[in-house]
Amino acid sequence: MRSILAVLAAVALTLVFFFVGQAPAGDPDAGEALASGCASCHGSDGIAAVDRYPSLAGQNGEYLFRAMRAYQKGNRRGGQATVMHGQVSGLSEQELRDLAAYYAAMPRTGAAE
Ligand code: HEC
Repeated sequence: MRSILAVLAAVALTLVFFFVGQAPAGDPDAGEALASGCASCHGSDGIAAVDRYPSLAGQNGEYLFRAMRAYQKGNRRGGQATVMHGQVSGLSEQELRDLAAYYAAMPRTGAAE
């Protein structure tokens, strides 16, 4: 009986750590408040007007987050990565997730919602 309780406690603790360890979800509204400086290159609708900048609207959120994280850590280099390193260097992980959620929620066409 005792060992069964110990196993149950271990399973419960594992589940707690699993869910606590999950990445926090991004908040698109919080992302919008952070994105005013991004619009000059990536467009206010997430569609870049200038050809050398990527459009972000409707891209997968986890991908956007990982891309920004990689610029921040210096793991994504070459091309114009230094531009983006400067843009995201002062942002927290939650802020990156919020920005990713904001752009991921935009329609890919760039049409106003
Ligand atoms: C001065 C122009 C400029 C500004 C401002 C800017 N970016 Fe960028 N961004 C770029 C360029 C250029 C790239 C491509 C860099 C490369 O060559 O890897 C890029 C790439 C990205 C990518 C990766 C896209 C992909 O498809 O892999 C994301 C995500 C991104 N920017 C988000 C942001 C966010 C969020 C902000 C505001 C906090 C921001 N950018 C501000 C120019 C800019």
